[in-house]
Amino acid sequence: MRKYNIKNCPSNINILALDDDPMMTLTLQSYFQAASGYNVDIENDPLRAIERIKRDHYDILLLDFLMRPINGREVVKEIRKFNNDIYIILLTGHISLAPPISTMRDMDIQGYFEKSDRFDLLELLIESCVKSIVQMRTIREYRDSLQAANERISRAYEQLGKNYEDMILMIRTLTDARDIYTRGHSDRVSLLAVEIAKEMQLSETTIERIRIAGLMHDIGKVRTPDSILLKECKLTDAEFDEMKKHSHYSYEILLNLPAVFSDILPAVLSHHERYDGTGYPQGLSGEEIPIEARIISIADAFDAMTSFRRYRHNFTAEEAKAEIQRCKGTQFDPVVAEVALRALERFDEIKKDPKWVYPVDENNEIIL
Ligand SMILES: [Fe+2]
Ligand SMILES: [Fe+2]
Repeated sequence: MRKYNIKNCPSNINILALDDDPMMTLTLQSYFQAASGYNVDIENDPLRAIERIKRDHYDILLLDFLMRPINGREVVKEIRKFNNDIYIILLTGHISLAPPISTMRDMDIQGYFEKSDRFDLLELLIESCVKSIVQMRTIREYRDSLQAANERISRAYEQLGKNYEDMILMIRTLTDARDIYTRGHSDRVSLLAVEIAKEMQLSETTIERIRIAGLMHDIGKVRTPDSILLKECKLTDAEFDEMKKHSHYSYEILLNLPAVFSDILPAVLSHHERYDGTGYPQGLSGEEIPIEARIISIADAFDAMTSFRRYRHNFTAEEAKAEIQRCKGTQFDPVVAEVALRALERFDEIKKDPKWVYPVDENNEIIL
């Protein structure tokens, strides 16, 4: 007998031999199991065979054609209702009794064997089925491992996203803890900047960059001395110069954090640049200033004007809008400022967002 030579293959190939002649099934079992190492089960009743194929896994069915109570054709029809994978080789008593090739193709039968006492041809047919089965298994294993790898990657991304948001929250909590009066400022700037960006119909990616940069823009204030950050009256020029360093500090802090923050660095660094070139830290002007920073700077100024400041009274929303209008083309990009004013027409709606929170005093009164 020829020995099948695909490595590790025969021992995990399961064959069911179905023939109403018990002598035939016993012969098939002893021939293919003993010598080739395939697992061969036998069955003499076609209905029971269908149940076994439903219940257990078989790779190949050796199927007698003329049987009772149902013949081979009906057996195949039943099996194909629930299993399209099993390879079927038809066993016929004589070639004249075999169905025509077209019928075999319709029935999805892989070959037929004219019963005789020599099994060489059947062996060849089985080997060819085994080759296909092994190839299919390799493809499935590859596909499954690819799918498992994809699932691992998405889980890692999910975790990374969660860590990223946790890190943002942690950094902002640190900043907010320094000064209760500016608590919530970065959330409000982020929310308003996103509204302006949406009004401008920027891409999802840019909007997300603006959201994060808005949240992080002032984190550099953790390095500003308390004597300046918490000063109750107007800053001296020297103190103001020190205060101005915070945008560069924000940039430096984010630069040392994981690379996920790299795309918000320009926006954070430039959020105090002015359209006319008189801002800081680099004195950029016009479109040299990243669009994210031109948007954040308006949201930042609006929130600074409308929320509490120690040494001056806050503006109403209308007064702050008038100030944005007045500073179009000097402090602010005129086009962005127009869009921002349009977005601010919805200010009452925007501030209903649960993240839009003002600091409160010990009596839980909003500090404004
Ligand atoms: Fe700032
Ligand atoms: Fe700010």
